[in-house]
Amino acid sequence: MGQVAGSQRRAPRAVLKFGSSVLRSPADLPWAVQEIYAHVRRGERVVAVVSAFAGRTDALYAAAREHGDCERATAALVAGGELESTALLTLALERAGVPARLLEARAVSLATRGPVLDAEPAGVDVAPFEAALRAGRVVVFPGFCGVGEDGATTLLGRGGSDLTALFLAEHLDARCVLVKDVDGLYERDPALPGPRPRRYARATWEEALRVGGKVVQPKTLHTARLAGRALEIRAIGASGYTRVGGELSCLEPAAAPRRLRVALLGLGTVGGGVYERLLGRPDLFEVVGAVVRDPARHAARGMPAALLATGVWSALAREPDVVVEALGGVDPAAEWLQAALLAGCRVVTANKAALAAHYDTFAPFLQGAAPRLRASAAVGGAVPMLETLARLAGETRVVGLRGVVNGTCNYVLDRLAAGVALDAAVREAQSAGYAEPDPGFDLSGRDAAHKLSLLVRALDRTAASFAVAGIDADTPAREAAARAAGRRLKLVATWDERGARVALEALAADDWLAGATAEENRLELQGADGRVERVHGRGAGRAPTATAVIADLLDFAADGERAAAAASAAA
Ligand code: NAP
Ligand code: HSE
Repeated sequence: MGQVAGSQRRAPRAVLKFGSSVLRSPADLPWAVQEIYAHVRRGERVVAVVSAFAGRTDALYAAAREHGDCERATAALVAGGELESTALLTLALERAGVPARLLEARAVSLATRGPVLDAEPAGVDVAPFEAALRAGRVVVFPGFCGVGEDGATTLLGRGGSDLTALFLAEHLDARCVLVKDVDGLYERDPALPGPRPRRYARATWEEALRVGGKVVQPKTLHTARLAGRALEIRAIGASGYTRVGGELSCLEPAAAPRRLRVALLGLGTVGGGVYERLLGRPDLFEVVGAVVRDPARHAARGMPAALLATGVWSALAREPDVVVEALGGVDPAAEWLQAALLAGCRVVTANKAALAAHYDTFAPFLQGAAPRLRASAAVGGAVPMLETLARLAGETRVVGLRGVVNGTCNYVLDRLAAGVALDAAVREAQSAGYAEPDPGFDLSGRDAAHKLSLLVRALDRTAASFAVAGIDADTPAREAAARAAGRRLKLVATWDERGARVALEALAADDWLAGATAEENRLELQGADGRVERVHGRGAGRAPTATAVIADLLDFAADGERAAAAASAAA
């Protein structure tokens, strides 16, 4: 996934707090990544405040008690629980392609006052947060810990990570979101049998204190009320939530969560990655079919034979809500995409070749607040290029764009610079899962051209046929010459109102695009008002692409939830 950097306007900010109800163990990390990515896709800068995994704090306190009763040493040991989950979440974000920076209490001088094991935050240096957010990085920060007046580690007591989140939200002027295993406060426990209770869309502090005890610590609510800072209670992947704060409480109908039935077309790098991730959330998704060329090979690798099929019609016969197309190429993908849409399914595709070839057919399905077709992964992998473009286009006329949009070519050029031969570099990109089924699509520049045409069409402009050139046998010599001149050879896709092209360019070393490494993608957008918007992250590979596809699936789930809530309100 990616992040947005470099805008001259201050992007909205969110502090998201992940407690041990949603980060029970490392297995939950990809879903925390998914929630962070959802905010990044909407153009927010995110600080993720992290608690220790479930049971970890108690285990560390017990270990400390076994060996002595020094409070400072206990605090140092117990703080290790938060550091562990913070480091693992940072790694999971990076793997998913979301640029992230781990900051620790000491690096931001998070000063506390009061008892070592029950302190309260008193001051913070926001400069390191500002720098990381400006550079387009998600910040991951351990909750619950600080630095006492004597420089020793301190703990913020029970519910301490909530206090960290509230404190940072106040100092960074950000929304404060507590990410929970329930999507808000309800008039009564929604897990109990009986008709679905209503959810508070808004709750005053008093109402939240009355009904929210099991979901939010009273200490958190008291602290937020004293600071006059509203907070949101949300669940991963849910559209509804409760906002606590203000003068009024109001209830709204809330639909019970419904599992999405998903059929996968393709089980390769992308489809296989999506399948693995969907298995991790049986409460949200049910895979009802998977279409491949060679079912026997997939069954031999452990894929349930009953799910496997070879054509779109057998997948549609299983009545999926959503079809995920990750086949590659134009035929039969474009025809199958159309069949799924005509059958009434929602569709996610990662296939830029099919979209670019039949854009006029698919464009009506891509439009509107609740589109029937979503295709985030088709351009930029986990880098939210289409979303950033749409947001900027909603605010100003976009007059130009330039980007590194093919991960394979960028990876190969990097490896040439490291002295690896062209053939070997291409084989590496293939085995890492970056390359197209036919890597000639990447090397020739055609894949970048498909992405460029989708970006331009998303602006409602057309780029008549444009020049496309990529990597060939002469490229190693050009790369060496560029490097000798202190420049970086990059495959750059460019569009402005005069025309478009895809070409190798020897960029100055301080050009922002020149900094893209390995399979990273970068896109720079120019607004008519002078604004420059930048977005970057991992553009290819299993984890980043699956992250973008799943974000589209979660958006479909949220559309369904909103429609069901509206229907129950009307009933
Ligand atoms: P892949 O690893 O080659 O997987 C393709 C899958 O589709 C395989 O499971 C294959 O079945 C199946 N398939 C292909 N043609 C088929 C047909 N005619 N009938 C039935 N099944 C068929 O490709 P990939 O890398 O996952 O790429 C898939 C799509 O995602 C492409 O459009 C690509 O451009 C896009 N994409 C890829 C990445 C990336 O980093 N790889 C990133 C963004 C977007 P078998 O397994 O039986 O061969
Ligand atoms: N082959 C593509 C690339 C995959 O290398 O960028 C991501 O679209």
